[in-house]
Amino acid sequence: MTKDNIEFPDASKIKEILSGVHYSDAKTNIVEDGLVKDIKQDGDKTIIVVEAAGERAEMLALEAHIKTALSKANVSVEKIKVQFNQIEGAPPISPQVGVRRLDKIKHIIAVGSGKGGVGKSTATMNIAATLVKMGYKAGILDGDIYGPSIGRMAGYESTVPVKIENEKIIPVKKHGIKMISFSFLIEANRAVVWRGPMLGKAIEQFLFDIEWGDLDYLLIDLPPGTGDVQLSLVQLIDLDGVVIITTPQGVALQDARRAIDMFDQVKVKILGIVENMSEFICPHCGKGTHIFSSEGGQNIAKGLEIDFLGEIPLSKTVMDSGEKGFPITAVDAAHGEPGSDTLKVLKAYENIVKQIIKKVDTK
Ligand SMILES: Nc1ncnc2c1ncn2[C@@H]1O[C@H](COP(=O)(O)OP(=O)(O)OP(=O)(O)O)[C@@H](O)[C@H]1O
Ligand SMILES: [Mg+2]
Repeated sequence: MTKDNIEFPDASKIKEILSGVHYSDAKTNIVEDGLVKDIKQDGDKTIIVVEAAGERAEMLALEAHIKTALSKANVSVEKIKVQFNQIEGAPPISPQVGVRRLDKIKHIIAVGSGKGGVGKSTATMNIAATLVKMGYKAGILDGDIYGPSIGRMAGYESTVPVKIENEKIIPVKKHGIKMISFSFLIEANRAVVWRGPMLGKAIEQFLFDIEWGDLDYLLIDLPPGTGDVQLSLVQLIDLDGVVIITTPQGVALQDARRAIDMFDQVKVKILGIVENMSEFICPHCGKGTHIFSSEGGQNIAKGLEIDFLGEIPLSKTVMDSGEKGFPITAVDAAHGEPGSDTLKVLKAYENIVKQIIKKVDTK
């Protein structure tokens, strides 16, 4: 069965696939135990009706498992909707969340945000470069498969020849950071239109078919928002937690709150909030000005009882270094004396990274 010839996926085929989905540690599956009540067409959507007892987090986890199973079997999940009916007395679901640890990686941390363009990728690169400077082995998985930017920020203009050994992808090493991004595999400026099954498989392959070797920290640069990709990524892997990046504007803060809510729902630990582009540092005089409202990140952290990890100034040097493919925090003696605005940024990252390390080590 190929995806292309499925206008409406065949209900019996879906049922067969779903019989590989477990809803708890038990060996039984959601079909055998009668949790799948119906598979029906509604307009251009296929609705899978599941009746169970469980919290929203468990429902979301089960949905991710269902969609992953369908994807793996080449069924497009774009038009599949999982409808949950909370039924008292129905089997309680407790699908395993984040069951897989990646071998030889001590800590896995996601970097996320609600809004796009707030500086997740920049922060991911700089956190990794700071970790490397501190003597840790760090890696980056560019989880942004629609708009991968880690490659460009590391100085790769287009595709990169990626080695495969023993059927595993070998990450590229740049600035001391091991990294893998979809941009290594696709040409720059070519829009990527991942369709359901490809997406599911790509994510899974990306997560589990990379030979990272020993790593102290693997950072996952998440795509913006709170959609299916984020959900799959965070459900399939045993994360130590997520760092939320926001900018000080009201809209970004609102979206950050939404992202925090999603991670809470799926029981991913929020390590803290970082406010990026908090104040503008003048490259000439080194003085800081709050262009946007100040302390927004701190205030939502306080309101939601989440730790505030620090603020990173808005600096032309940060932006330029991203453009030049050289993370600002990888600056060393070979690149001359850093200016005062650069120093401020380096200090900010150092502080943030120290707090992250403390948090995951005492987990
Ligand atoms: N502190 C900063 N000072 C100046 N420019 C910054 C700063 N942080 C990020 N930028 C710039 O802002 C732009 C967006 O950053 P980035 O790509 O990291 O955001 P993102 O959240 O990953 O975006 P997307 O949601 O598209 O993945 C980039 O041009 C980057 O160089
Ligand atoms: Mg990004």
